[in-house]
This record gives sequence, structure tokens and C-alpha cells, in this order.
Amino acid sequence: MCGIVGYIGKQEVVPILLEGLSKLEYRGYDSAGVAIYNNNKVTVRKNKGRLSVLEKALSTEKINGTLGIGHTRWATHGEPSDVNAHPHENTSGDIAVVHNGIIENYMKLKDWLIEEGKEFKSDTDTEVIAHLIDYYFDGDLVLAVQKSIEKLEGAYAIGVISKSNPDQLVAVRKDSPLIVGVGEGENFIASDIPALLKHTRDVYFLDDGDMVILTQENIRILNEFGKEVKKEIFNVTWDVKAAEKGGYQHFMLKEIHEQPNAIKETLSPRIDADGNIDLAEINITKEELSEINKIVIVACGTAYHAGLVGKYAIEKFAKIPVETDVASEFRYRDPFIDKNTLFIAVSQSGETADTLAALREARRRGAKIIAVTNVVGSRISREAEDVFYTWAGPEIAVASTKAYITQLVSMYLIALDLGLKKGTLTKEKYDEVLKELRSLPEKAEQILGDISLIQELADKQFNNQSVFYIGRGIDDYVGREGSLKLKEISYIHSEAIAAGELKHGTIALIEEGTLVIAVATQEHLYEKMLSNIKEVKARGAYVIAIAKENQVEIEKTADKVLYIPETMDELTPILSVIPLQLLAYYIAVARGCDVDKPKNLAKSVTVE
Ligand code: F6R
Repeated sequence: MCGIVGYIGKQEVVPILLEGLSKLEYRGYDSAGVAIYNNNKVTVRKNKGRLSVLEKALSTEKINGTLGIGHTRWATHGEPSDVNAHPHENTSGDIAVVHNGIIENYMKLKDWLIEEGKEFKSDTDTEVIAHLIDYYFDGDLVLAVQKSIEKLEGAYAIGVISKSNPDQLVAVRKDSPLIVGVGEGENFIASDIPALLKHTRDVYFLDDGDMVILTQENIRILNEFGKEVKKEIFNVTWDVKAAEKGGYQHFMLKEIHEQPNAIKETLSPRIDADGNIDLAEINITKEELSEINKIVIVACGTAYHAGLVGKYAIEKFAKIPVETDVASEFRYRDPFIDKNTLFIAVSQSGETADTLAALREARRRGAKIIAVTNVVGSRISREAEDVFYTWAGPEIAVASTKAYITQLVSMYLIALDLGLKKGTLTKEKYDEVLKELRSLPEKAEQILGDISLIQELADKQFNNQSVFYIGRGIDDYVGREGSLKLKEISYIHSEAIAAGELKHGTIALIEEGTLVIAVATQEHLYEKMLSNIKEVKARGAYVIAIAKENQVEIEKTADKVLYIPETMDELTPILSVIPLQLLAYYIAVARGCDVDKPKNLAKSVTVE
């Protein structure tokens, strides 16, 4: 949701904070700010708008200092404005705080603090933290922060500096991400790894309730009971370039083009020397598997769409009933979950609040929990029994692409493995699917090798008011993902619908020139899709179809066809989503949208 960085060391802090924030803008970008300790005071500068607004403002003044905190915001409490931007201060401006998360009981605390004479300036929940610390402060910042967090309900990652403690940066986390970067004569905090990579690859992951006290030379970590704990340093092995655009106009385009490699990276470590799947990270014995009578996949947004394909694949190959649910609904419907349920949480970031809450609910009801996530050390990865990492590499664009494709690959690997273990899938079929799965990076590359028709269509179709995606079976799931991509980055209203449902209502909206994207890759549903395309064509729709190379007769029905290479029906989502991602991307570019940072969105949603 929001991005935090903090620094204590010997270097000038402003450039370090700004550079770190630029790597975290994907987490929120409606305002940004910094607080710097200098000349025996804390100086705060903050602005509504992108980080560039703050950068410009800071370029006209020189603020020296070697201790500071910074923040890039995605508004929850209070509109985006200069005054609601972080950092927030206590009344005298001696203490500055940055925060990611939500303080649920802030109204109560605010009323009380106002009675105590504290003056509030903003509409945010965060400001109570600054005043609370001030209330408890008697010279010891650590103690004041400790006392303050006892009063807080909700989720938070917090960074604090104070005029009275110029040699300390204090931070604390609960249910919101925060890591510590270990340097030489300097130390850092950040919401995510890319913000630190320029300075260090050695990080500590904090646990819930942990507080960290940084000085130039030292890092002390206290657990939720105030006891000092020792943690292992995690060495980040990513290439710095992984978090840079590398010549592409946008991160999203780069990440779409990284998909063939991302598929390989997710597959390769799971295939043993004999060419079989080895899911060492998932500990389910045959006996345990025989007791599992249901699988529940829970996720949000794009990850939910991957979960829908997961349902299809697991039911098809492993013959276990699967429910796929959106995480924000799951725990409010009193779900049937018990010790015979296998629960799979799918989350790129591993920190989505709803998915985490659903996971906790499933655990409370006795389910075995697997996380499928892209972020090592993330909250969801830590709370699951087993973790299956989607090795997509860092995904920076807000709209998910390569993480989605690796989630699909993960779903297929899990389905095939379960199918073989259960004996519901013959070894011949297993080998056949696996061989085809391994050929997909090359086929994905083929799609990316010629995108001229997609660009041409985007240039013609970017002015639509409303776009419909239709498909049947797994094609419907892919259509939903294509539709989500289009709406989030181009702001065109779009809707995905099972093609057979059209005539039950939605077809009323089809008129002359309406753009309909028809995903029609499934042999056994092909004729039915052709009929659905004819239905919308008869009402004046302009139809772009996605079909397999050998399905050329679709050209007689659709206006344009985007072909994907031949593959088995079960695996088409991994290929058919690529033209949809590209179409959404080029339409958004043609509309002049800020593709990597769509309005109102943030990369990880750590609030409910
Ligand atoms: C859309 C998108 C979101 C996320 C959703 C879940 O492009 O990225 O719909 O998929 O917010 O996020 P994670 O996977 O981090 O749990």
C-alpha cells in the first residue's frame, strides 16, 4: 500500500531516501514525503502527487543530514493532499513518523489525545502515532514507541525519528512488511528489497511485533515481548537489473517479455533428472493425500484468476473437488473447512491482507496450508506450512503479468503432481502434459516475436467506451484476466462473461461497433464459441478472437484473429493470456495512460 524507507549513516540522506522511494512507488504514489534530522531539528517536506513533485521541491533547497525517513503514499484515511502526506509529526514537530497499514482504533485515540492537548493537522490515522509517541516520550524513544504500539490496533510498519535521539532510527512492524538493510557504518529500513539494492544485499526479515533500533554501527531487534533476538541475515541474490526497466518503455512491457523466462524459472527447479516433477517444498505424503477430500484456493484479483485455472487443472488431473474463492469473501461465508481440506493461498506479494486473513481462518479450522507466492519471506509465506515460490523475479508494474503466468505454471505443477500421486492421471498423460508444459517458454517467445497486429488493433480500438470478453471453460477464466488488465491500466470499462451467459442479459449491451474479445482455444467448445461470436456479430460487434494456429476457419466469423501456437487444450491459458496482456498494454499506451502506475491502485493491498 505505502512505501517506507529509512536511513542512518554517514552519507547525505535526502538522495538515498528519494532513490529508495523511487523503487517503492509501485506501492502507492498519490503523495510522498521525507523527514530529516538536521541542525538539532527534524525537517519535514511532503507533497501531494508523484515522487517527482517532491523531488522537484527538494531540488531547490539543500537539506543536509544523515538520518531520515521517507514515504510514498496510497491514501486510505484522508484524501491525497500535502497535509495528509507522510511523515506526520507531533505538535512541536520534534518527532516524525512514517506508516504503512491502518490503525483501526485511531478515532478513539485521536479523541483522547486531543483532550490531552495534542493538535492534529491531518485526517490520517497515522498522525495519532506521532502524538502517542510524544505523549509517552520522556527522553527514551524506544520506550515511547513500545508504549505507543501497545495502544495500537490494526496493521502497521512504522519508522520513527526524533530530535532528541539523533543517533537512532526506530521501526516496528505488525502485519505490514518491513525489512532491515545491513550496511557498513550505515543501516536501512524499507518496505521492500528493491529500495535497498543499490546499497546492500544483506537484509533481515522482521517478524510481527518486532521492533528494530538502528544506529550507524548497530542493529538491535526486539521481539514483541521486548526481548532481544538474533536473526539470520538473508542475502539477496537478484540482479539489480531485475528491478529496472532495461530499455523498455514501461515495467509492464518488460515483465510481459520476461514471461518465457519466468515460466522456465518456475518449472526448471521442479523437474528432476528423470524429467519428473519433484515438489520438494510441498510435504504431502500419499497417505495424507488420500485423506484430503477438498481443496480450497483463495486469492484476490489476478491471483484469483490463476486460482480458477488451478481449480480446472486439479479437478481434471487429480480428481479432487476444488473451490476457488475471492479472499475478501471467503471468511465471511462460514466456509466448510476442516483437517481434510488442503488450502492454497495464491498471492504474488505474499502480503495481501484479505488472503492472509483467509489463510488464518483456514488454519484455525484445521486445514493444511500451502502458499503460492512470489516474495521470499513474505507474511503469507511465513504463515503457511509449505511454500511454493513462483520464481517470476521482482514484479514492479502494478498490473500483474509475469507473476500470473508463473502462478498458472505452479497450479499445473501441483495438479500434475497430485494427479500422479493419487493415481488419477496415467504416467503417459502426465509425461505428455509435462513435456508440453516445458515447450511453452518457446511458444510464448513466438507470440512475443510478432506483436504488430496487436499494436495495429490497439491503435484502432483504443477509443472504446466498453469492451466485453467472452469465453467458455478455461477460456472464460483467461478472458476475466484480460478484462481486468484492460480496465486497470486503460480505464476502459470492461466485463468478462462466460460466453453461454451472454444471451441471459449482457447481450443487451452489444451494439454497432462494440468491441468483443472472444477467447476460443478449446476444441470441444469451438463450435459453441463460433455461435456466440455470430450472436454478437449479428448485433454489430467488432470481434477480435484468440485462437490456436490450426483454428483458421474462425477468420470467417471474427473480424480479426490473434493466433497462439498449437498446444494442448488444458494448457492454453499460459499462452492465450499473452495477447490479451499486450492488447491491454498497447491500448493503455495509445490512451496516454501511466501504465505502470494506474490511478487508484497499488501493487500490494495490505489493508482489508
Ligand atoms: C492486477 C493485480 C491485482 C493482484 C491482487 C492480489 O493486475 O495485480 O489484482 O493480483 O491485488 O495481489 P497478490 O497476488 O499480491 O495477493
